[in-house]
Amino acid sequence: MLGRRRTLQDPVTIYLDDEPIQAERGEPLAVALLGSNKVTLARSPKLHRPRAPTCLRGACDGCLARVDGLPNVMTCLRSARGGERIETQNVLGSRESDLLRVTDWFFPQGIDHHHLMAGIPGVSSVMVSFARKLAGLGTLPDEKVTEQRARRAEADVLVVGAGISGHVVASQLAALGAKVMLVDDGVASGGSLVCAPSVHKKIADEYTLSSVEKLQGWTAVGIYRREALLASNESAVVVRPKALVFATGAHDGVLTVPNNDLPGLFSARALSHLGARGVFPLGRTAIVGDGFWADELARVLNENGASDRTVRVPLSSVAGVKGSNRVRALIVSEGKKSRTVDVDVIGHAAPSAPSFEVAEQAGANTVFRPGGGYAVACDEQGKCGDGLWAVGECTGLPFEPDRLIENARSVAKNVAATLTLNTHQPGAE
Ligand code: FES
Repeated sequence: MLGRRRTLQDPVTIYLDDEPIQAERGEPLAVALLGSNKVTLARSPKLHRPRAPTCLRGACDGCLARVDGLPNVMTCLRSARGGERIETQNVLGSRESDLLRVTDWFFPQGIDHHHLMAGIPGVSSVMVSFARKLAGLGTLPDEKVTEQRARRAEADVLVVGAGISGHVVASQLAALGAKVMLVDDGVASGGSLVCAPSVHKKIADEYTLSSVEKLQGWTAVGIYRREALLASNESAVVVRPKALVFATGAHDGVLTVPNNDLPGLFSARALSHLGARGVFPLGRTAIVGDGFWADELARVLNENGASDRTVRVPLSSVAGVKGSNRVRALIVSEGKKSRTVDVDVIGHAAPSAPSFEVAEQAGANTVFRPGGGYAVACDEQGKCGDGLWAVGECTGLPFEPDRLIENARSVAKNVAATLTLNTHQPGAE
């Protein structure tokens, strides 16, 4: 269903349940597995439906696995160095044939585990241990993780997220003289831009990050009393910036139709990401919806000789997905009738949802927009709270590179103006 169509430049070997898999050094583990057509990597908690990576940006549960003895590792956010041992977790049998899948068939409407046989003497304790087995997400690490002390760091501005908006705002602020720290949880810089290398190159050429301190592969865990806790796999940093800029982007949307969780269904952005790394669908593919990522995916597939195996389908006409353990077909409605289109990979551009969470946790204002979900609410300057700013998709802007760049340049100027003001205030920190 998926395969690699580019020769590896710097191959390393990783292991999935003891099977050796070739990977490009530095690429996400999940990409390497998909490139070897290892698509089903996990099982959903509770109903044990098959799960596969769908976003490749740390926002679904399809790539969770035990890696080198650590449970629940997002394999799309861990780069291949060679020798990693990836194990399927929380299954009875194998990731392809998990016997606990019977739960999905016995309880097609879901399980109310709070009340299931609760209060029946002797039975409820058995049910509790069964429920734990069903809903568990892996067992404890093989080894005790040693505690590390966080270090402190200084910055005028902390920018969270290194996609278009974060990249441009960080570059502009550094050019204006601010000490800028840019944190991003992806394995490579660029956020969504890793999925569109030509746009990435253009922006990287025009907006340098040479004087920005970059923390790549780090997560902004939370903001506590204006101090940001940043963590990587190995250590942690606490920084108290004068200004915090959220450029956290947006989560890929989901198709709101039955079977929208089957392996083989990706966001168009995730499939474009795979294409940028040389991994492509080998069979028939449907591109659902319109917009930047649907067009980018169509372009990538076209350039790689897959256009005759690709169909485009409007988002509004998708009525369902067929398959049991993986995608087999798309159900398309046409008026009162529907037809089945045989495909084994779907890339969809369902409306995305702004990633507002860490900004809200920091105290930023949020707003609910019907049809668009929650977003960070900013004034016309880009300010969303005391010392807090937001740019780009997390504020509800669509992924349109020119518009995102313009927004980031404008917000950078506004942030810089407050920093200048502060430095002239007597006694200002
Ligand atoms: S969280 Fe890794 S693919 Fe979605």
